[in-house]
Amino acid sequence: MSTVRVCAHVAAQLAEHGWCVHPDFIDMSLRDALAAETREHWQRGTFRHAGVGRGKTLTVRPEIRSDRVLWIDPAACSVAQTAYLRHIETLRVAINRALYLGLFDFEGHLAIYPPGSFYRKHVDRFADNSRRTVSAVLYLNDDWQVADGGQLRLYNIPGTAAQPLDVPPVGGTLVTFLSDHFPHEVLPATRERLSLTGWFRTREGLG
Ligand code: OGA
Ligand code: MN
Repeated sequence: MSTVRVCAHVAAQLAEHGWCVHPDFIDMSLRDALAAETREHWQRGTFRHAGVGRGKTLTVRPEIRSDRVLWIDPAACSVAQTAYLRHIETLRVAINRALYLGLFDFEGHLAIYPPGSFYRKHVDRFADNSRRTVSAVLYLNDDWQVADGGQLRLYNIPGTAAQPLDVPPVGGTLVTFLSDHFPHEVLPATRERLSLTGWFRTREGLG
């Protein structure tokens, strides 16, 4: 399927349900390139402990999240990152067409969860700024098995009663959801867990 059609499908799912899990959003060669770069950066020591909150209230809280992140600089992207950001731009346009959300830009980071790391239940939209509107998590893992753990656990999914939905971080899968609607958490894994996580933002927001 072409990127345009895949993105139209994701946008239609988001419009209907508010969330979407799409396997094989990118092809294996792009996933492998992004994963290899992520490991290279990790080995060079450029990742930082992820923070909680934003601006003046940004703090490292290892009891809440223990992943390490490297923010993507749109002005200094690798070839693989540029290729992914092109997919993201196609998706932004498709979501705006389907949901009229007025998504304006995208901020994202590479993330590594060393074995045993986690991110406790949270909501992606900040309390003091409403720009983050759609979350988009792309997994970069190779041959992930359910027994490896590391699921993304999504709460408040309509139709699943009180049961949360667990999504294993299978490489190439893109998970999207409305950033203010779905509390979620990352369960610990027995293996290193790689992702490229980002947020489509509106131009203006409170704060
Ligand atoms: C996040 C997050 C989910 C995941 O970074 O805010 O919830 O599956 N990530 O990595
Ligand atoms: Mn999150």
